[in-house]
Amino acid sequence: MSNTNLTGGPAWHWQAWRSEKSWAPTVDALETWLFAKITPQTPSTLLLMGASAGWMMPNAWLRQFKEIHTFDIDPLAGYLFQWRHGKKLRAQGVHLTCHTQNALTHLPDLLKTYPQACVFFDNVLGQLRFNSSDIQGVEKNIARCVQALKGREWGSVHDRMSGPVSGALDLSSEEGFHWPQASGHLDTGEDAQKWLTRIQAQSPWLDHLTGQVFSKEISVHNMAWAFKPNYWHWLQAGWVKP
Ligand SMILES: C[S@@+](CC[C@H](N)C(=O)[O-])C[C@H]1O[C@@H](n2cnc3c(N)ncnc32)[C@H](O)[C@@H]1O
Repeated sequence: MSNTNLTGGPAWHWQAWRSEKSWAPTVDALETWLFAKITPQTPSTLLLMGASAGWMMPNAWLRQFKEIHTFDIDPLAGYLFQWRHGKKLRAQGVHLTCHTQNALTHLPDLLKTYPQACVFFDNVLGQLRFNSSDIQGVEKNIARCVQALKGREWGSVHDRMSGPVSGALDLSSEEGFHWPQASGHLDTGEDAQKWLTRIQAQSPWLDHLTGQVFSKEISVHNMAWAFKPNYWHWLQAGWVKP
């Protein structure tokens, strides 16, 4: 797995900083899902993979943990995560350590180092396809990560697909408007088509090769993310209990 960073670094931070408002409905949806799904058990240590500065990570959810380790290959990420989240976490007595490290290549070692920790892949698994043109290799890498996590409590939010949108959806928060989200696996036929229509997708959409991250027994939640005004992502989130 290459250490080249095509999905993080200064361009990501700039995009995230200036998109705070348009990304807010997705961050809200993610926060609601996280609180509904995950109540940390004791001892509550969280490994947050691909954390960047935690631009989309709700601080209130993080504050439930006693100890958090973030991992990102971007050398800026740790400083920015501390800047965005550190003070509030420390005020709550949460121990935060930010590591500059490849969380996927080192996953087996990290799992050994933190045997009691739960793991959250924070919008990183869907980025692997940008590091390699070998589609099967990427799918194998993801499968290897999933295999390594056997017996562990873990979750992920990741890009399922992304692509151009028609811009027809009225995003002004008029009463009764609900940000597009849907529960369940939408990988086949009619359901996927309905969902893509709902998020105003215009083909072609890019598959982020994350269709096998969660087996069908794991309940998943789908959220739209207006990454750019005319280019949206379909995020899928799920949580696995051993
Ligand atoms: C789409 S961004 C998500 C950032 C973050 N979750 C947030 O809310 O700001 C993907 C992040 O994954 C990081 N990343 C990519 N491959 C990685 C790897 N193998 N190990 C750790 N971090 C990685 C990138 O540097 C980038 O910060």
